[in-house]
Amino acid sequence: MREQQNFYYGGDYNPEQWDESVWLEDMRLMKKAGVNYVSVNIFSWAKLQPNEETYDFTTLDKIMNMLAENRIGADLATGTAAPPAWIARKYPDSLPVDVDGVRLLPGSRQHYCPNSEDYARLAGALTRKVAERYHDHPALVMWHINNEYGCHIGECYCGKCQTEFQVWLKGKYETVEQLNVSWSTDFWSQRYYEWEEIFLPGKTPTYANPNQQVDFKRFMSDSLLDLYKMERDIIREFSADIPIMTNLMGLHKPIDGFKWGAEMDLVSWDAYPDPYDEIPYAQFMAHDLTRSLKKKPFLLMEQAASAVNWRSQNGAKTPGIMRLWSYESVAHGADGIMFFQWRASQGGAEKFHSGMVPHSGDEESRNFKEVAELGQELKRLDELVGSEFDAQVAIIFDWENWWALELDSKPSDLVTYMRQLLAYYKVLHRLNVRVDFVHPNEDLSGYKLVFAPASYQVSREFADKVASYVEQGGHFVANFFSGIVDENERVYLGGYPGAYRDVLGIYVEEFAPMKRGTTHQIQTAYGDVDIAVWEEVIHLRGAKAIASFKDGYVAGMPAVTVNQHGAGTAYYVGTQPETAYLEQLLRDCLDAADITPPFAVPAGVEVTARQKGETTYYFFLNHTDKTQVFDIGGTFAELINSENISNFMTLPAHDVKILKK
Ligand code: GAL
Repeated sequence: MREQQNFYYGGDYNPEQWDESVWLEDMRLMKKAGVNYVSVNIFSWAKLQPNEETYDFTTLDKIMNMLAENRIGADLATGTAAPPAWIARKYPDSLPVDVDGVRLLPGSRQHYCPNSEDYARLAGALTRKVAERYHDHPALVMWHINNEYGCHIGECYCGKCQTEFQVWLKGKYETVEQLNVSWSTDFWSQRYYEWEEIFLPGKTPTYANPNQQVDFKRFMSDSLLDLYKMERDIIREFSADIPIMTNLMGLHKPIDGFKWGAEMDLVSWDAYPDPYDEIPYAQFMAHDLTRSLKKKPFLLMEQAASAVNWRSQNGAKTPGIMRLWSYESVAHGADGIMFFQWRASQGGAEKFHSGMVPHSGDEESRNFKEVAELGQELKRLDELVGSEFDAQVAIIFDWENWWALELDSKPSDLVTYMRQLLAYYKVLHRLNVRVDFVHPNEDLSGYKLVFAPASYQVSREFADKVASYVEQGGHFVANFFSGIVDENERVYLGGYPGAYRDVLGIYVEEFAPMKRGTTHQIQTAYGDVDIAVWEEVIHLRGAKAIASFKDGYVAGMPAVTVNQHGAGTAYYVGTQPETAYLEQLLRDCLDAADITPPFAVPAGVEVTARQKGETTYYFFLNHTDKTQVFDIGGTFAELINSENISNFMTLPAHDVKILKK
């Protein structure tokens, strides 16, 4: 596979929306902004193919040639994300159907059923034409398939999807009897005798079968993935060594990112933090998650130069924030920073979405100046490309668990995957601990400390892996409502948390979820601490309590426990404590696992590192609006400003420095 040489900088480029006279100005401004890479042809299908028999590549040829002449690399899309209107007219069954049975109309984008044969055939035909025509074009740097699969249409409830679901289930279970067992169909008289009796879990009188619902999500993610693979395989017939990928969406529920990552040459995602958030931790978490899909550098494929158009209030990124959050992604493994989009559109639904070039076209605008300064600056970062992110801490992440955890009929709808993951991630981020997200099938042995928040649905194999990891000296942290059911949504019997009971050395007799908005307390070594969301009845079976509940009928019972298991330690947090306590607790866990951050920095300053051979690059990011001064204990070369910094670093508000060692 062709290796990336330079740090990528650019954005979605849609010149087909503009008169050709604007293109020349684009090339001039791109040079000024240090743009070396753009995504093209993402939404051009209607223009490329006026009807089923005719293709017209005149405009795309011109665009690709212009990019080559200007030495700007093309991330060339197959263009299949928005089918032309004539497809909807000619093949109305290609349109997706929502859960209410309503067929969705063309006139926006992504209006295709993931299992439509007509859509797949026509998308495949277009992909073939594009691949045939451009596979050896000098501008081509990367293949970009479709765009944000599942962004708008993560599921479809049409008849074709129902038939395909039955086929998928047959492939998974082989016999209807096996499906009956896995779906627990003797509950509520749901037993099936023929595959054809199985419907999609759409609108049912009340709660649909849980494992049917999870299987439907698995099936939909797979259906979309099959579309991706179909296009990828066509491209590969023509293009052996150009990387192929699609842009993912980070914390995006419908798409099983690990499964998808395995099918791509590299991963990328589109980050849209809300500028009203002071520190958008969820977005930061998604950088780590995306890198973790392949445990390799990733691309930030889209971000906004300033505001987006699709929230109810769309704040602008204030001065310095676009730069700071761009570096946040680099500090977590990005080898490219891209925007949606190059030039703000004059018309269409996204005309109030910022672009790298604003509507004014003004080179002196703050917007463009920040974009251009960053682009020039990033040219000094080429040596970073390919550097690894070395984490000692793992957080388990599993899309299937996410789907299962958040189904209906649970003890508390306050227990959501993101809230639980973020509670731990945020503290680790603040403590400057580098984190990988790890799929349950991956190896744990390279990590000193493993967190599995809200790991409600886990396989027996994973639980056994955790047990031997801890036996051999690993450190493990789980919290409430974890280790409860297997992959078929069947409870591990004999006491909660069935799958983790032995390793944690506890037995949970009963859950006692708290009412929304209530706060209780636990008693800890660090004083009394507020808790919310969850209480439960925990019995010690080898573990010792390090905090206990203070209120109601669970008063005096263990709330947080620690268990020596073999050579390692397993912690259990039976509630949701306030962040300050979680920070204390996690410091203790990190100490036990012998993990120390490389520098001591003031609160609000972040430090991460990337590694290339013998060289370590330390990133310092000031997320506060004040200048911070701190001791770095030595002299280092700084990469962005090519200066040496000795002993004390002065880091202005929202500024970034990269030290090299
Ligand atoms: C992304 C999408 C882009 C654009 C952008 C606006 O989800 O890929 O095409 O719509 O959002 O923020």
